[in-house]
Amino acid sequence: MSISIGIHDLSIATTEYVLPHTALAAYNGTDIGKYHVGIGQESMSVPAADEDIVTLGATAAAPIVARHGTDRIRTVVFATESSIDQAKAAGIYVHSLIGLSSATRVVELKQACYGATAALQFAIGLVRRDPAQQVLVIASDVSKYELDSPGEATQGAAAVAMLVGVDPALVRIEDPSGLFTADVMDFWRPNYRDAALVDGHESIGAYLQAVEGSWKDYQEQGGRSLDEFAAFCYHQPFTKMAYKAHRHLLNYCGYDTDKDVIAAALGQTTAYNTVIGNSYTASVYLGLAALLDQADDLTGRPIGFLSYGSGSVAEFFAGTVVAGYREHLRTEANREAIDRRKTVDHAEYRTLHEHKLPADGGDHSNPAQTTGPYRLAGISGHKRIYQKR
Ligand code: CAA
Repeated sequence: MSISIGIHDLSIATTEYVLPHTALAAYNGTDIGKYHVGIGQESMSVPAADEDIVTLGATAAAPIVARHGTDRIRTVVFATESSIDQAKAAGIYVHSLIGLSSATRVVELKQACYGATAALQFAIGLVRRDPAQQVLVIASDVSKYELDSPGEATQGAAAVAMLVGVDPALVRIEDPSGLFTADVMDFWRPNYRDAALVDGHESIGAYLQAVEGSWKDYQEQGGRSLDEFAAFCYHQPFTKMAYKAHRHLLNYCGYDTDKDVIAAALGQTTAYNTVIGNSYTASVYLGLAALLDQADDLTGRPIGFLSYGSGSVAEFFAGTVVAGYREHLRTEANREAIDRRKTVDHAEYRTLHEHKLPADGGDHSNPAQTTGPYRLAGISGHKRIYQKR
């Protein structure tokens, strides 16, 4: 009999600040219906000047280490598409900040928003080889587009940390996976830019093509049928995208695309993303956190996951919710991570958006803004200086 491997613990973190879409709409004259209904977003997380993917990732991972200790964690896989260094893995800073053992391998993975799913699948492979070990998967991203561009309303930032091991307390990840890759230029960020380039409408089409392709492969690999799933966690660049994707899948499979049926399958997965915004790699797992935190008992029920990363790679896979999972959730802490954010006005948001570390790596001190447990104090001698409170 194959061993049961999956997500044993899951913790989320987001930023110090939040910008409501009403403020963006008031500034740029957009009808708020476009944001609230058209793209399904209410607000977006905005990082403080002294927050980044490392501080967010460490904040998400620290409670996991506090609960389970460090003894069994032998690998950290840090997934991000807003990387801070061309060589050093961001996970090494996190490894140090949260006090992991030196007997650990740490690596960073990239393929746009899909990276965390690659990390999860690689973690499962490592655990299958050595069932005594646990793997810490961290997905952490700051989603940033140009000011006054169409993408601006779909920004956000968050991290999700997941402990992967045998006999998981939350979700058992199943075989098979459905896979899809296509070489498309829908969204990319060349090394010389900190804001992404995107062909928004092309990216929606590329996402839908990937949904179809990965589902087709999932079926060919002997996957479950659509009506077996209790809910679907989609990558959510904006929450309306999950609705578009699920409608597309239902259509493709010849099912009725009744609005209420779609809402029942997705509604509870969007609660965190709608107020956080796009968190790239973390987004699909924020969807899982929101679902587990809100749904009636899901014990034994299969959940479908559709992870999409522009460029593009997608994977469809299933997970089954484990008996007793509710005792291991972090519902209160997850809500607190969202509720503690301070609202900024539009002018403050623009200042934060324009904040950059010096392009030449010159010495620099960041203003002390975050009240979170970790901060990026600045740069000295081209080295990032992190502090723990
Ligand atoms: N009331 C209600 N709805 C309204 C409205 C109003 N007053 N005004 C407009 N809308 C609706 C539109 O009808 C449209 O809905 P449909 O898509 O269902 O037709 C929706 O609001 C958006 O309107 P537009 O298409 O006109 O908006 P836009 O041109 O400003 O672009 C966007 C929207 C393409 C998503 C843009 O925000 C963008 O480029 N975002 C970044 C790219 C992105 O998120 N792509 C998603 C797929 S790629 C991916 O998933 C990877 C990733 O993370 C980036």
